Amino acid sequence: MRRTLVAGNWKMHGTLAENEALLTAILAGIGDAKAQVAVCAPYPYLAQIQGKLTGTALAWGAQNLSQYGKGAYTGEVSASMLNDFGCKYVIVGHSERRALYGESDELVAEKYAAAQAAGLTPILCVGETLAEREGNVTEQVVGRQIDAVLNKCGVSSLAKAVIAYEPVWAIGTGVTASPEQAQAVHAFIRGKIRALDSAVADSLIIQYGGSVKAANAAVLFSQPDIDGGLIGGAALNAEEFLAICKVG
Ligand code: 13P
Repeated sequence: MRRTLVAGNWKMHGTLAENEALLTAILAGIGDAKAQVAVCAPYPYLAQIQGKLTGTALAWGAQNLSQYGKGAYTGEVSASMLNDFGCKYVIVGHSERRALYGESDELVAEKYAAAQAAGLTPILCVGETLAEREGNVTEQVVGRQIDAVLNKCGVSSLAKAVIAYEPVWAIGTGVTASPEQAQAVHAFIRGKIRALDSAVADSLIIQYGGSVKAANAAVLFSQPDIDGGLIGGAALNAEEFLAICKVG
């Protein structure tokens, strides 16, 4: 059976004091979580998180990385730097980076490759906008986003990756995809991978993200192809986040 992964994406939130309180509360309650659990924090807090979470059941990661290994790239952070701070995961291709920072499918694939080359597990985000859903091109869009990674790294690379389906219209809006809508896209993704490699498809964790809360996590995560969630706003509240982890 596939395991589930619940990962918090803190986005650009947190302070040293807030993180300390949030992680203390999560650690206190995480004992009976069904899912694997991780938090993805802003870069400056990774040292704090490494200090706090080393030796615990919680994994951690970053929200972005450079496609380059090192060099004259002012402001960028490489995969090996994330390794220095014990990261297991790194989010690549979040819709906010695609939309606000112009990250193309090809750039996202380069970041995915850079993460894997350093031994990090990329969480590859894919998802359609509302206009794309209404234009009935959801599968083309999600398929194209995944193809960029398949073309660059091959299907076998997905044995060491996670995919997060995050419909853009459901992120931070309070509008969650219905379990049926989410399951349909998850099944499309897994079917696409299964056509290339059934073993990889069967073990691939495909998370759902977009307004997941304690109140809707159970019905979403009980869908056959939904293996946990990538959690934004609700990951900043220990009680909410723990409740979601206990579902997964
Ligand atoms: P929300 O859970 O706040 O909708 O954010 C989802 C998300 O973008 C996680 O990466």
